[in-house]
Amino acid sequence: MTDNRPLTTDHYLWWQTGVIYQIYPRSYKDTNGNGVGDLTGIIEKLDYLSDTLGIDAIWLSPFYPSPMKDFGYDVADYVDVHPLFGTLEDFDELIEQAHQREIRVIIDWVPNHSSDQHPWFQESRSSRDNPKRDWYVWTDPTPLNPPVHAGKEDKFSPQQRGELEGGPPNNWLAVFGGSAWEWDESTEQYYLHSFLKEQPDLNWRNPEVQKAMLDVIRFWLERGVDGFRVDVAHFIMKDPEMRDNPPAPQEGLAFHRPHGDYDSQEHLYDKGHPDVHGVYRQFRAVLDEYSNPAPRMSVGEIHIFDWDEWASYYGNPQDGFEFHLPFNFSLLKTAWDAGAVRQAVDEIEAALPSWAWPNYVLGNHDEGRIATRFGAEQARVAAMLLLTLRGTPTIYYGEEIGMSDVDIPIEDQLDPFGLRVPGWGRDRCRTPMQWSLDPYAGFAPEEVSKLWLPLSDDWEEINVENQITDPTSSLSFYRQLLAMRKKYPALNRGSYTPLDGMPQGCFVYQRQEAEQSLIVALNFTGVPKRLPLEGDGKILLSTNMDRSGSENLQSLQLRENEGIIIES
Ligand code: GLC
Repeated sequence: MTDNRPLTTDHYLWWQTGVIYQIYPRSYKDTNGNGVGDLTGIIEKLDYLSDTLGIDAIWLSPFYPSPMKDFGYDVADYVDVHPLFGTLEDFDELIEQAHQREIRVIIDWVPNHSSDQHPWFQESRSSRDNPKRDWYVWTDPTPLNPPVHAGKEDKFSPQQRGELEGGPPNNWLAVFGGSAWEWDESTEQYYLHSFLKEQPDLNWRNPEVQKAMLDVIRFWLERGVDGFRVDVAHFIMKDPEMRDNPPAPQEGLAFHRPHGDYDSQEHLYDKGHPDVHGVYRQFRAVLDEYSNPAPRMSVGEIHIFDWDEWASYYGNPQDGFEFHLPFNFSLLKTAWDAGAVRQAVDEIEAALPSWAWPNYVLGNHDEGRIATRFGAEQARVAAMLLLTLRGTPTIYYGEEIGMSDVDIPIEDQLDPFGLRVPGWGRDRCRTPMQWSLDPYAGFAPEEVSKLWLPLSDDWEEINVENQITDPTSSLSFYRQLLAMRKKYPALNRGSYTPLDGMPQGCFVYQRQEAEQSLIVALNFTGVPKRLPLEGDGKILLSTNMDRSGSENLQSLQLRENEGIIIES
């Protein structure tokens, strides 16, 4: 069976109509006093998530045993819990408690690489003839500076390549800086690592690896998880000939922030080989096996901005489905400008196959926070956009209270990305959640001597306790938006139609389901704008939270930095 029911029926699933909330477990709530958040802390906050916010699913970043070189994205055991975060029993309790509140639990699955401390890699590196040698990507050295696309496989036999003095087999680079190849002294071969050298890439062309990793999925499905967020999903299949990447075409670069040497190449061969789709069809088949009666889901982290290629990660009805949702990061790469944002949304709508469900993201543990990127007023416009577009929104923890990036001096930074590629540090968006006026903002018990990352300086002003009683706070605004999304089918499942002829700087769209019709009007500028709408309407919510009720739309003016939702 498959979860992608036709959208023309009335049958929508939790991951379509619901809202996902990402928790970075290290930073949510520390109950055992080690300065790092834990699973019991998340259990303590489930009432906040269900009653205060009313979210439908949580996605937990990794909590597995790990040397923490990449803060958990270097997994040393895929089927256990790091003692920092608690135990498997705590995890079972979390699932049970979440389900009692009708909150679904999505966990992170990191298939591209393990930690170098994982027993699989320890075995693999122990000798060239170890049975797990081929579980990772090992190659002999080749002569330095081979010409691009030289067809190396034909030119030298493996023996010849081994005998020759040489360097890495090709020019592939690690996302976190430097070559993607690490020399292993004792066995005299290179191994591949697309991220840190402590994160060796698994060899997904090996059927034993596929089986072992799909068994990991089964382990967690048996424990009751509702879904997986798949880390750098498109990385797992590389060019089998391991060809050099060509230089990056100049025009493509404008699309994203230049990211050191890594962006000097067009990453044609080191990730996203078409064989990747076969793996995700198998992965999906496992999820589907477990989807009756409770539907499970998957969301893939896919940093691909060619929308047709991106959409191919949904799979298709002929060859088989893949991800229920490939994360859509388009809004993270789009200038904060009404026209650009509308274009981004329209491009996604156009690229989606008719049966595929959209989704939107404005922040996560790798990106700057919304309040810092857009400022406090536009942060509300951004929240209104995220929670009123057609498709599943994912909210990053702390955005609901308007947390900002924290400037952490370089000597105190921990993230290996920032330490290796200046300017790319991610600690700034991973600081502890600001709960209350208690010591450590209620994040950790008083006796803790040090938090793993510092709190933001603004915690005494920006925290849940302060905002919960303030009817115009960011938290109150999110609560209303979330409640409205739940209440109005037009918002959580209706059609999307952009409205033309609106003033520059405004993005206005209609959401419709059966008789219900809502208009969302967003002013991206600091200048008031008059909207050319007609008839009567009822304002349901303004980002300023100071007006509601019936209005003649003809005289409707959007104030500066204001967004409104109108029932028309
Ligand atoms: C993903 C994660 C990021 C991690 C990287 C390597 O991009 O979101 O945090 O560092 O993969 O696993």
